[in-house]
Amino acid sequence: MLSKGLPLHAEDRHTPAWEIPWDIPLPRAAPFGVHSIGKPPPTLGVMAMNPVKPAPVAASEEAARARPDTLTITDNRTGKQYEILITHGTIRALDLRQIKADSNDFGLMSYDPAFTNTASCISRVSYIDGDKGILRYRGYPIEELAEKSTYLETAYLILRGELPTKAQLEEWSYHITHHTFIHESIKKFLDGFHYDAHPMGMLISTIAALSTFYPDAKDIFNPESRLKQTWRLIGKMPTLAAFAYRHSLGMPYAYPDNELSYTGNFLNMLFKTTELKYRPNPTLERALDILFILHADHEQNCSANAMRNVGSSHVDPYSATAAATAALYGPLHGGANEQVLRMLLEMGSVGRVGEYIRRVKAGERKLMGFGHRIYKNYDPRARVIKQIAEQVFEVMGRNPLLEIALECERIALEDDYFVSRRLYPNVDFYTGLIYQSMGFPVTMFPVLFAIPRTAGWLAQWEEMLLDGEQKIARPRQVYLGREQRAYVPIESRASGKGSRISSPKSEISDSEGAPGSATAPRKEVEKRGILWHKGSFHRAVGQT
Ligand code: ACO
Repeated sequence: MLSKGLPLHAEDRHTPAWEIPWDIPLPRAAPFGVHSIGKPPPTLGVMAMNPVKPAPVAASEEAARARPDTLTITDNRTGKQYEILITHGTIRALDLRQIKADSNDFGLMSYDPAFTNTASCISRVSYIDGDKGILRYRGYPIEELAEKSTYLETAYLILRGELPTKAQLEEWSYHITHHTFIHESIKKFLDGFHYDAHPMGMLISTIAALSTFYPDAKDIFNPESRLKQTWRLIGKMPTLAAFAYRHSLGMPYAYPDNELSYTGNFLNMLFKTTELKYRPNPTLERALDILFILHADHEQNCSANAMRNVGSSHVDPYSATAAATAALYGPLHGGANEQVLRMLLEMGSVGRVGEYIRRVKAGERKLMGFGHRIYKNYDPRARVIKQIAEQVFEVMGRNPLLEIALECERIALEDDYFVSRRLYPNVDFYTGLIYQSMGFPVTMFPVLFAIPRTAGWLAQWEEMLLDGEQKIARPRQVYLGREQRAYVPIESRASGKGSRISSPKSEISDSEGAPGSATAPRKEVEKRGILWHKGSFHRAVGQT
């Protein structure tokens, strides 16, 4: 039974969670003397207009302020103009659908592989300014939280939106601490893994397996159920991770100790041997707690997006978290910390850093732990992590790989290749050194990322569920494949022909080139009946 006053969100599924509505009505009178073509104004915030007078130059700041927040688009195929509402610095992609070449046209779509310029949701969890190197959770700067907060308090903040009172924090910590045990059958499940199974593989599988133990988790629109799964997931992640680690060592599992802190207990489950009571080193315990704070959320990254996408099918949170963990496993995301360590080991000495950087610049390698989709400045988490590294090294001794890492950073921050691309160390560059010094094998590094990120994933998941605008995530595609053709019996198939799957990347380029070449067979595309227009393209739309 839940205690009163602790539901994660009071809102009902159908109550919009947003303070600022998207559906701001269009101005009634068309601005700048524009008149519409007589159709009723479309409901999606786009109206067709013809003709349009040029906008007068603002005579004063006041006039500038009076300018509407709209975007006027001219479709050169038809000569029609459209006015699209701009809200929070974005236009709605669906508004583009009104723009049609003719009545049979499906309507314009936006094309944005890898979502480099597409907001998929409204969020209030974390804020990043990539140019300034700012990260805030619910408005609180990450540096301040790292200095003053604890992981469990930060998890509460991320999930509930506000810092807890003392009583709220006690209750929150109590429930999470009392959900750290896992069903004994999970141990049997773990025992089935080979001794050298990667702990991330074991973690992903056991998180997914939790869904079979808690069928009540399917009740995703019940706030009490969501809260319980939240306690369970945050509580059990360290246990699953530690058990996976112990399995790989062939050591007996160490059970949770409720008297220890969240990270203290995690260290206990990892490293306890014959002592009756494990006492974590306070410096390492706090260092790990700060690392957990720094990794707790990071807005719409690959794994958060996976959590939202998979969760949008209304699957239970364990299955969605398993998917998010799988996304994190990749070397371009949370798996990068493991790759950084392997890279530093490969370099082997400060003297070989220059040669490695040369290979990176030649495109042969990537400098792992460098670069970020959003940060075009020093990752603020990396700054804090550098300080923690010093504290950990004081206890555990200086990691010999640190000198190599510092030399890497020094060269990269001066080299035009990295400077011009604005590639700076990200969160993963120094974490591996700390984890290694603390005694973790490299394969555990992404696991150490997944544990704290669970709070962020759950916050993103819940925000998605409560957002009345969200639906099952289902992107569109640009279909450039074959048109309908007749099945060819196997005896009639020419060997080697028709088996090549051409690269979509080459086919959407606008330049002329030999068929199949990397520079875009525009003619080939035209032959297939795809209509090209000014470097853009229209497509056959695949729908389900
Ligand atoms: N080493 C060398 N060159 C790089 C690196 C790198 N680490 N990162 C980016 N670049 C180069 C790219 O080759 C590209 O060069 P080009 O313009 O000549 O083609 C340019 O910088 C832009 O890079 P993109 O790949 O377009 O950047 P994107 O935003 O798509 O990728 C990513 C970001 C995946 C993080 C990338 O920087 C990378 O692979 N870094 C190494 C892996 C890593 O550290 N990942 C952890 C990120 S933090 C996290 O997820 C927790």
